Amino acid sequence: MSHKIGIIGAGGVGSIHAAILARDQRVKLQRFFDSETARAQTLASRFGGQVAPSLEVLLHECDAVFVCTPNTTHEEVATRVLEAGKHVFCEKPFALNLESATRLRDRALSAGVIYQVGHNRRFAPVYKILSQAIGAGELEPLSVHAKMNRGELVNPSWVWDARLTGGFLYETPVHMFDLMTYFFGRVEWVEVAARAHLNRELDDFSILLCFQSGLQATMKTYAHASWHFPFERFEVYGMHSTYETFEMERISFTKGLNSRTTTYDFSLSTMHEKWGYIEEDRLFVDALDGKSPSPVTAEDGYNVVELIETCYQSARQGIRVPTGALVRK
Ligand SMILES: NC(=O)c1ccc[n+]([C@@H]2O[C@H](COP(=O)([O-])OP(=O)(O)OC[C@H]3O[C@@H](n4cnc5c(N)ncnc54)[C@H](O)[C@@H]3O)[C@@H](O)[C@H]2O)c1
Repeated sequence: MSHKIGIIGAGGVGSIHAAILARDQRVKLQRFFDSETARAQTLASRFGGQVAPSLEVLLHECDAVFVCTPNTTHEEVATRVLEAGKHVFCEKPFALNLESATRLRDRALSAGVIYQVGHNRRFAPVYKILSQAIGAGELEPLSVHAKMNRGELVNPSWVWDARLTGGFLYETPVHMFDLMTYFFGRVEWVEVAARAHLNRELDDFSILLCFQSGLQATMKTYAHASWHFPFERFEVYGMHSTYETFEMERISFTKGLNSRTTTYDFSLSTMHEKWGYIEEDRLFVDALDGKSPSPVTAEDGYNVVELIETCYQSARQGIRVPTGALVRK
């Protein structure tokens, strides 16, 4: 029996998920809903399924729903899906503040359905190699340096507006915070210096993260770097070993003082594959099949929001802030 899936939000990322799900034989793309009906119509014409005249119709007919609407709507739309008792895949960011993240996490837990957050980078081949090396003990991270820049806050047209993104850290860098905790575990404290260059928004961060393991990581994230390659990079150092990623195109590592460097290059793979979208969608459908649990839970989403809020507090107050020290508004 195929899973009837609905997609709410038929824009850029909605069309990525639709294209991938349309090729999964376990799935029937049932309904598309968008506040601009023409967009839902475009996806229905390309990938099959029908436009839903209302959210209610989509929720009534579908078993699981992809929420691909803008950041500010995630809590509200995902809550509607949870209240209908349907499984949820919701794009990042999980929520835009701790209060909202707490509400949504608690609702997701008590709903007893599958909830997956769209932190696709975990499933990018380069990051899978890095995480497998750590998991297998081939790399014991002792020190980390990372960056995730944006070229601009110009495209899409709303990306400069913190009222819509939730703040620069909730935009592209949100992925880095998820990867940091996924690879290295819980963060104990952060110390952050930040500046605003444009739009009166903090858009240039120098972040020191100390993990419970004692590992320290530095991370730079800046919003206006040009799209100079690579704008996203991890350097993970072990004892006489280094793993280094270049966007999601390739990963190189050297495992000892006298060893050669090995490089895996994914540049010829499709963007859907090398950015991890294909695997995150496959794993969501696996979870619907009961084969495996959600690989990125509401709790994971909450933890990323908590870490980002901790970074903002440290930046604004100029002090070291332990995670878990924030008071929910
Ligand atoms: N995981 C990733 O790599 C990734 C990549 C891009 C975007 N995203 C996230 O996905 C979300 C959507 O981004 P996008 O780039 O596709 O944006 P987009 O503007 O291209 O698409 C959003 C769509 O949602 C529709 N919409 C807005 N409010 C709605 C509502 N209340 N109900 C129904 N439809 C509504 C809009 O008309 C639009 O078609 C954002 O939260 C973004 O952060 C994630």
